[in-house]
Amino acid sequence: MQNNRITQILGIQYPIVQGPMSWMTDAKFVAAVSNAGGLGMLGPNAGLMKAPKTTEALLSTMRAEIRKTKALTDKPFGMPIILSYDFSTMGALVDLIIEEGVQVALINQLDGIDYRPFMQKFKAAGVKTIFRAGTPTPQNAREAEQLGADIVVATGFDEGGTVPSQVIGTFSIVPQIADAISIPVMAAGGIADVRGVRASLALGAEGVFVGTVLLPTVENRMAESVKQRIVDSSAQDLLLYRTQPAYYRSLPTRLAHELVAMDNRGASRDELLEASKGGYGMRLGMLEEGRADEGYISVGNGISYIHEIRSVQAVINDLMQDFAAAQTTQHITHHAA
Ligand SMILES: Cc1cc2nc3c(=O)[nH]c(=O)nc-3n(C[C@H](O)[C@H](O)[C@H](O)COP(=O)(O)O)c2cc1C
Repeated sequence: MQNNRITQILGIQYPIVQGPMSWMTDAKFVAAVSNAGGLGMLGPNAGLMKAPKTTEALLSTMRAEIRKTKALTDKPFGMPIILSYDFSTMGALVDLIIEEGVQVALINQLDGIDYRPFMQKFKAAGVKTIFRAGTPTPQNAREAEQLGADIVVATGFDEGGTVPSQVIGTFSIVPQIADAISIPVMAAGGIADVRGVRASLALGAEGVFVGTVLLPTVENRMAESVKQRIVDSSAQDLLLYRTQPAYYRSLPTRLAHELVAMDNRGASRDELLEASKGGYGMRLGMLEEGRADEGYISVGNGISYIHEIRSVQAVINDLMQDFAAAQTTQHITHHAA
């Protein structure tokens, strides 16, 4: 396992991408991932403690965080186009990515969003595109391939964050998507140690797209007490409740218990979304020290095998150990020849 299509397309050392995570990314963290050989991605509210209120504020705060990231790494990094659900803001973000020379764009596909014009603009500008459907299907993967996506992410229900609307686990979705297309596939959802990486490759993926495993790291901006809580918890501790568009998972905070109770009483998805306080609930649960019970703590099923707070580099070295070993052998052979 040396270089493969993913490392070549993205211009990185190892085929590992850090998925954008609302509130939980900033320039320091993203640069740490890219400097460690993966691809870091800024996410919604990167580096912020309050969500920007206007499109102008969103664009200027993102531009500032992009520039800070560029100052901390000369390696490629990426950004998603969905930082807002407003179509014209997405268009402005596409322009920002191109103007600032961000090398990789994540096209998240959500219902009702026509991402085709964005894909065309990125292709014309030479920005690499990673396509990730909210709910992956062979059809939406094939469509992305036809439109010129460089890489497709197959996300299983095990993931942290907004999970796919269909309850199909990572083991079931990755081979199905890999069979459907010929461009490279990355596996996402519950991958938090080298066994998950090896399994992903065995299932037909050529790399991994991770979130949760990089949260309890020294460089992440999450509240320290929440990092420790993730280390101390297992998948069995997680609560699952309905929300928009489908379901959500949280460690058992007071708010998460209330949401489960509301769900059991038959509350609608919209009522549950409102009661979860949307993105603010994540900020309270994960970013602001001491307020976890007022919000929710979003993580994937991979938490069971996260046992300590480590540096980003240590996590990536661990997950990518087979690639690192192959690259060392290749290097030695090359020098001996
Ligand atoms: C706290 C948290 C916030 C997330 N926020 C976003 C987001 O804003 N946009 C997005 O496309 N994905 C988001 N995700 C999903 C990640 O990009 C990635 O797909 C996911 O974490 C992979 O699964 P894993 O957590 O099991 O590794 C989030 C995930 C987490 C854990």
